[in-house]
Amino acid sequence: METSVRFSKNYLMINGSKFVPFIKYREIRSKVKEIARQIQIDYKGKIPVFVVVLNGGIFFATELMKHLSIPLRVETLKAKSYGNEMYTSGKVQLFLTCDDLEGRDLIIVEDIIDTGLTMKTIISELQKYKPNSIEIATLLLKRSNLKTDLQVKYCGFEIPNKFVIGFGLDYAEFGRNLKGIYILE
Ligand code: IMP
Ligand code: MG
Repeated sequence: METSVRFSKNYLMINGSKFVPFIKYREIRSKVKEIARQIQIDYKGKIPVFVVVLNGGIFFATELMKHLSIPLRVETLKAKSYGNEMYTSGKVQLFLTCDDLEGRDLIIVEDIIDTGLTMKTIISELQKYKPNSIEIATLLLKRSNLKTDLQVKYCGFEIPNKFVIGFGLDYAEFGRNLKGIYILE
């Protein structure tokens, strides 16, 4: 299906759904800086491996790593569960390209945690590599929608249970490159 997009001064219409501004890039930037500062302290003397969840996580990961001066490694994995819908299909497909994770300190970098199903699947997959530790860094968290218990060490913003786009997050592949975050009205 062709995605129909209409821009207005105060909102965006995508396939008939209206999105309004929610978190400004300025706020994202300063929150991410704070998280980076904390990681810098927590991982002093270590070489963490940032496992970036594609596609959405790359925007948050890039912003985060700009502010880190400790040595680190970057690896990626692809997770898919939404297709073109606004709800999870319940089935998570993972495409992992990283290895050499044994004994390493992993930080999973994700754009958003909704039900937590994707993150749970990623963690159990990564555990097979016998890392020393696994922590989660997510830009957004819909805590009220969590269906599983996850220890989220680094979180940018807790948000209500509504669909959002921008800063890596898409709806039908639209909106990833928006500078700020927009929420479904
Ligand atoms: P979960 O498995 O339900 O936690 O969903 C996680 C994945 O679903 C995220 O990595 C996103 O790719 C996608 N997702 C969840 N909520 C949203 C949203 O509000 N906007 C865009 N994508 C979302
Ligand atoms: Mg994601």
